[in-house]
Amino acid sequence: MTAGSRIPFFPPDLFEDDRTVLLDLLLELGMSPEQRFILGKHTRRFEQLLQESLGAADVVACSSGTSALDLALTAVGVGPGDEVVVPAFGCAPLAASVVQLGAAPVFADIHPHTMVADPVEVERRITARTKAVMPAHVFSVMADMPAFAEMARRHRVRLIEDSAVAQGAVLDGTPAGLWGEAGVFSFVQVKSFGMPGEGGVVVTRDAGIGQRVRMLRNHGQDGSRRFLHHVIGRNSRFDEIQAAFQVHRFGGLPDRLERRAAVAAYYTERFAPLAERGIVPPPAGKDGRCHYVYTVLADRRQALTEHLRERGIDCHAYYPLPLPLQPAFAVFAAPGDRWPHAERAGRRALSLPVHHRLSDADVEYIADAVCAFAGT
Ligand SMILES: Cc1ncc(COP(=O)(O)O)c(C=O)c1O
Repeated sequence: MTAGSRIPFFPPDLFEDDRTVLLDLLLELGMSPEQRFILGKHTRRFEQLLQESLGAADVVACSSGTSALDLALTAVGVGPGDEVVVPAFGCAPLAASVVQLGAAPVFADIHPHTMVADPVEVERRITARTKAVMPAHVFSVMADMPAFAEMARRHRVRLIEDSAVAQGAVLDGTPAGLWGEAGVFSFVQVKSFGMPGEGGVVVTRDAGIGQRVRMLRNHGQDGSRRFLHHVIGRNSRFDEIQAAFQVHRFGGLPDRLERRAAVAAYYTERFAPLAERGIVPPPAGKDGRCHYVYTVLADRRQALTEHLRERGIDCHAYYPLPLPLQPAFAVFAAPGDRWPHAERAGRRALSLPVHHRLSDADVEYIADAVCAFAGT
């Protein structure tokens, strides 16, 4: 795409290189005598690829990232009467997955710069009813998982890692997804390893949790015998065509992630001098970084948005209203509790395109436009 033309936030040609493979798989699986469309050999292969590459005890494919959170929370025993501490700033499934189990989300404020749950804020909300803490990696920076792991041990609470957006990120040598007892990835189209449909996985270093999640995703059956239901499960099965497609695309993932990281690093270098002009980039560095979207904090967000749109650059403001202020979740907001950093991030966060299909010229054009707005 050339400077001056429209640069979409998410690329319309996401699957361009693999379109023929997708159509071939559709034909192959659609015509195969087995007529196996869910939880077959392709799903198993996909799970194994992820499990081996991560060094996880188990990876269980399921119907979405949201469902993966539900399965993980259920597998560690979250239920009615429990509390789960979650970030106040983030996506709805963080709170909804807890509520669906009859438990209560307790909202903790975030770090003002990285926008992930602040361990101090989480810890001060732990009570005798707390069953689990569930930090989430949000935009560029993974949550402080060493602090959460230590906190979970000390308070004897379960640790679920919402790593839905952080596939491929590594912090202190440990991959995102493996810091908690269970983590999740989402494969919805726009994620770093998105696919043309809905899907997710639960990732775990605990084989017992993996086994429970396997049963839960398919109506409580253990895979060896049909119509024997050990627990009350869900329908959260994985699609075979998508699994075969993801297996095909898995080899290219490191290069795509590398491209995102390079684009993000370039932006951060260009934007570092803008901090005193009201545009703050994420912290520089590689450890514990993920690049689902690239988000700056802008004092004059609306004006910056208009400036970029006038130049054909798409941008998004994620999570303008913190979770405890949402009509759906306000009932769970503790009276008198406050989340000033979440509210401030909701007013200032602006995400720029960072996907692998951006050309160098696109990236330079976007950076130039942001710098021009700041007057540099
Ligand atoms: C942090 C986080 N958690 C969970 C989810 C849910 O994933 P899915 O959309 O696959 O249900 C998302 C997706 O937007 C997310 O960003």
